[in-house]
Amino acid sequence: MGQRKPIMAANWKMHKTIQDIKVFFESFLQLVEGVDDREIVIAPSFIGLSDACRMTVGSKVQIAAQNMYFQEQGAYTGEISPTMLKSAGVDLVILGHSERRHIFGEDDSLIARKVRSAADHGMAAILCIGETLEEREAGLTEQVLSSQLLLGLALLESGHFASISIAYEPVWAIGTGRTASPEQIQDAHGFVRGTVENMAGEAVAQQIRILYGGSVKPGNVREIMSLEDVDGALVGGASLEPESFARIVKYE
Ligand code: PGA
Repeated sequence: MGQRKPIMAANWKMHKTIQDIKVFFESFLQLVEGVDDREIVIAPSFIGLSDACRMTVGSKVQIAAQNMYFQEQGAYTGEISPTMLKSAGVDLVILGHSERRHIFGEDDSLIARKVRSAADHGMAAILCIGETLEEREAGLTEQVLSSQLLLGLALLESGHFASISIAYEPVWAIGTGRTASPEQIQDAHGFVRGTVENMAGEAVAQQIRILYGGSVKPGNVREIMSLEDVDGALVGGASLEPESFARIVKYE
């Protein structure tokens, strides 16, 4: 894994009220005190972002948004802008999650504009990519990953790559309890790094962090994190309980 500092990220999706978030941090912050060889990221829903930022002031925990729109303001009912996120203290955003793509119909060109907007606003972004089960079974995994990367990162200039991470999340492993095998994960991550190298050069490819997501749990995180091209985890279900996510963060 070289010099890449691991990112252990929680994606809470549409879970937790503001009260629930408070209860979580009351125990979680103590559980991860002293951890400084890895980055800890938590992505609550929009409604919890400001409070989560306040509750984690002075800690190592970074708060991320689960999505944003690419415009700064305007007639976009229901959307949240990068400037709004920054005003809440958030400078990291997850983009292109498979639930955004598959439930809410986001396509690569929209995601690309969001990725560029994050860079333009000095925000770090985690771009999520991943194949469906049908695509994997049809032998299309690499084709899907390369097209999601090429299109999703298409609007970036070379200086922007430093603030981008990639999350490889096979759609069939998300929330299903079915984790991809170590071989499948390493193959995909190696392929992603190679694709980034073709796009942006070797130095960028060596520093970019590639997270795995899809049924990561305390019991499998260690094996997954030991893989050469895995630089972090994006965790849904197993991040909701403080003890569970703390065990994931503190994997040995
Ligand atoms: P999961 O979700 O850990 O519940 O599979 C991961 C994700 O969607 O980011």
